[in-house]
Amino acid sequence: MDTWLVFGATSGIAVPVVRQLAKRGHSLLLAARDEEHLKRLAGDLRARYQVEVTTLNFDANDLDGAEEWVRSVDREHGPIEGVFWATGYLGDQAEEQERFAAAKKSITINFLAAVAYLHPVASLMQKRKRGHIVAIGSVAGDRGRMKNYIYGSAKSALNRFLQGMMQRLYRSGVAVTIVKPGFVNTKMTQSLDDMFLVAEPSRVAADIVRGIEKRSEEVYTPWFWWGIMHIIRHIPVRLFKRLSL
Ligand SMILES: NC(=O)c1ccc[n+]([C@@H]2O[C@H](COP(=O)([O-])OP(=O)(O)OC[C@H]3O[C@@H](n4cnc5c(N)ncnc54)[C@H](OP(=O)(O)O)[C@@H]3O)[C@@H](O)[C@H]2O)c1
Repeated sequence: MDTWLVFGATSGIAVPVVRQLAKRGHSLLLAARDEEHLKRLAGDLRARYQVEVTTLNFDANDLDGAEEWVRSVDREHGPIEGVFWATGYLGDQAEEQERFAAAKKSITINFLAAVAYLHPVASLMQKRKRGHIVAIGSVAGDRGRMKNYIYGSAKSALNRFLQGMMQRLYRSGVAVTIVKPGFVNTKMTQSLDDMFLVAEPSRVAADIVRGIEKRSEEVYTPWFWWGIMHIIRHIPVRLFKRLSL
């Protein structure tokens, strides 16, 4: 079975995905900041599924240390055969409009960190001609909206980055899967009061695991967000700018 490195392993969406990977017998490298949560999760997975689980301290703000971090994890616990990127941060759009530091935090965690950590992984996989990179973007990246355009633009950049990497790695037999959830009931969305069609993390996780198994290029989850975003993307700009979506 493969070894999967999971960034943001403590996230509401990642936990049920990680359980499914463990159930299928994969070894896991769980990376996050909250050590206590990681240890509890790792202990539970080892007991339930008898798989190898290693916990790793990971801070997405450490961009300069990313390359060495990935190389040492691969050397000590690898080879890394699968990567699941679930790290993300939803800031306050109003604050991000007024304070560049707030906007920078969102862009750093949602986009720059993915470039910093996924590129070294991609190069290792390309050399070995084997691997799968799965990353969570968002439907928010499909069209800029006034309510979350800093988060949305970072996710949009992540989407373009992953699309390019997918093409770069294709001939090496390395797959890239872009996951685009709609609203999901996790810690991230607890304070939002204008959500609709909210999905539970277990449902989103099932879609992600199906996408992993099929090595899908893109996974909208739940599926109907593909149609919703198709319509939203095609609303003419002249009309769209008048809406308060
Ligand atoms: N929930 C939604 O409606 C929704 C919709 C579309 C896309 N997404 C995306 O889905 C992914 C998972 O989100 P979620 O909904 O499961 O939310 P979540 O439970 O809040 O998870 C976010 C994860 O990112 C980690 N993280 C944030 N800042 C970090 C940093 N500086 N260094 C390392 N880790 C950091 C968090 O770790 P800490 O616990 O240490 O902060 C947490 O594990 C994210 O990429 C999110 O953007 C979510």
